[in-house]
Amino acid sequence: MKTATLGYLLAGALAYCSTAHASDGAGRGQAIAMQGDGSGAPCIACHGLDGAGNDAAGFPRLAGLDTGYLVKQMQDYRSGARQNAVMAPNVDNLDDQQMIDVAAWYASQQPTPASLPEVDTALLELGKKVASSGDWDNYVVPCETCHGPGSLGVGSAFPRLAGQHAGYIKQQLHAWKNGTRGNDPDQLMLAIAARLSDEQIEAVAAYLARQPQQGDL
Ligand code: HEC
Ligand code: HEC
Repeated sequence: MKTATLGYLLAGALAYCSTAHASDGAGRGQAIAMQGDGSGAPCIACHGLDGAGNDAAGFPRLAGLDTGYLVKQMQDYRSGARQNAVMAPNVDNLDDQQMIDVAAWYASQQPTPASLPEVDTALLELGKKVASSGDWDNYVVPCETCHGPGSLGVGSAFPRLAGQHAGYIKQQLHAWKNGTRGNDPDQLMLAIAARLSDEQIEAVAAYLARQPQQGDL
């Protein structure tokens, strides 16, 4: 009997939550995540409903990233300031409010812990050094100076890197290096990426992907 009562209460609570959700921005955002912008594919096809993304396919994690950061990236794809042929067509029909709503949905998702294969400890040591201490000989400021302690992100300007997929981090750093990503304010990231060696990029991406994300600390 007790279990049945608990089940009833839980069902009631869940029904209440989903009704409450459906009327707020994240609820509208969930609908966009599931349906897309009308011309592109639904976001969940690539980023998943929970925003975990997919490392092998090159789809970044969105879960738990800052709403303002996510909105800025979508606006940049829409305006062409950030270019990517796979991603841009999926948001070019969204208006600002829809971008805020879908960003709020992904920001509210709990980041899922990644299970990653073991890698060389020397590589992870080098990655940790770049992230926490930088490489002063080559004027590389530690990532944590801007991305915050544990690279957990600071406000809307500096995204969380901890737990992001290694392949995506690596790809973005190379994109800045070769000039295909240039939407960062004051070229802050270009200045950093340009001075990183390929080995440092490999190492810092592997290290950051293995760091705990906010929420599962
Ligand atoms: C066909 C696959 C695909 C679909 C569908 C898709 N995306 Fe993406 N998304 C990508 C890829 C690939 C990237 C990385 C692109 C790059 O390198 O700039 C990305 C990047 C992003 C980013 C930037 C993340 C960051 O950390 O800077 C945001 C925000 C985003 N997508 C939101 C969305 C939303 C919202 C939708 C649905 C309206 C959506 N995406 C649909 C593939 C997709
Ligand atoms: C001087 C400040 C600064 C430092 C130091 C810095 N970053 Fe950044 N980084 C930024 C800003 C600002 C952005 C957001 C750019 C935008 O709005 O598109 C960013 C974005 C990124 C992104 C894109 C994340 C995403 O979700 O698309 C990656 C990857 C990244 N930084 C890696 C690094 C690494 C690795 C280091 C250390 C080697 C580092 N950053 C050091 C300022 C900095």
